Amino acid sequence: MNTEKILTLAIESSCDETSAAVLQGGRKVLSNIIATQIPVHQKFGGVVPEIASRKHIVNIMPVIDEALAKAEVKLEDINQVAVTYGPGLVGALLVGVSAAKSLAFSRNIPLIGVNHLEGHIFANFLSAPELEPPFVALVVSGGHTSLVHVKDYNSFKLMGQTRDDAAGEAFDKVARVMGLPYPGGPQIDKLAQEGDPLAIDFPRALQEKGNYEFSFSGLKSAVLNYLNSMKLKKIEVNKADVAASFQHTVIEVLLAKALDAIKETGCDTLVLAGGVAANSSLEKRLREVTAKNKVKFYYPDKILCTDNAAMIGCRGYYQSLAGKYADLYLNAVPGLALTDV
Ligand code: KG4
Ligand code: ZN
Repeated sequence: MNTEKILTLAIESSCDETSAAVLQGGRKVLSNIIATQIPVHQKFGGVVPEIASRKHIVNIMPVIDEALAKAEVKLEDINQVAVTYGPGLVGALLVGVSAAKSLAFSRNIPLIGVNHLEGHIFANFLSAPELEPPFVALVVSGGHTSLVHVKDYNSFKLMGQTRDDAAGEAFDKVARVMGLPYPGGPQIDKLAQEGDPLAIDFPRALQEKGNYEFSFSGLKSAVLNYLNSMKLKKIEVNKADVAASFQHTVIEVLLAKALDAIKETGCDTLVLAGGVAANSSLEKRLREVTAKNKVKFYYPDKILCTDNAAMIGCRGYYQSLAGKYADLYLNAVPGLALTDV
């Protein structure tokens, strides 16, 4: 079969989005349906795992049906099923994995287990048809911050990751103490646009050259300490300045390490991935700095930055080309890491 004709049904349910997509070949998205649970979790200030699992159960079949209908294909036309099996919330992952296994078994078609973080990187292939490895990927999501040398479609080297909080997690926690709703990243992004990024000098960790690890828990604590000390002194804080200064610190750390990684690997391309890639200032700063350094820069369309099944389908397709299929014993792996492949 012509590989460009392969129809992949992809499923994503690792956190608070239930999503299904149909891809033709590796890069043509016929549908990408996303049922978000954000409003459900907002009143709790974060994702409640048990509620997430239950919502996924309710949403999964309608979302798959809608993805097939929008793509104008029938289940019988689908050649393979790709599903996120980690990292994520175990109960949430299990819903997608069980649905994918059932479909693969009943249709007798191959099953592909996809690492969610690899999926985020591959979202870039959907937004940029001309993009090819090798490149350096900066993955910044709610649970992970990593620099990955993507040597080929199925060959990656993890250069470094966060030792503690992920960048998105820091955004969400800082937003929460400032009384902003979940998820905090977009809220900080918006508020920061009215603030002065140089108003407060927050600390930057692990600045040594050649160190590709990140640490954002010290920065998070510094913001909390700043807010507490201002409260004790009864000084009114300018929240926009706090948001802008915090965001600026995160961005400068990310871009310095990303540029170092580009130099070390000799790559001429940087790609941004994960939910925090939707941050307008991060994208703007990376665009400026990469242009100055003659580095090509890619980031996914906004809808492909946060969790979605199309990126899982894209990763799954390239795995299938390398014969990397799963069997029906595939299980959810909540702590699945991004490792060398
Ligand atoms: O990749 P993602 O959808 O889920 C995970 O796999 O974790 O990322 C979600 C994270 C959340 O922490 C959210 O606050 C953050 O991405 N995020 C943002 C923005 N949009 C989403 N962070 C900063 N600025 C944004 N505009
Ligand atoms: Zn994600």
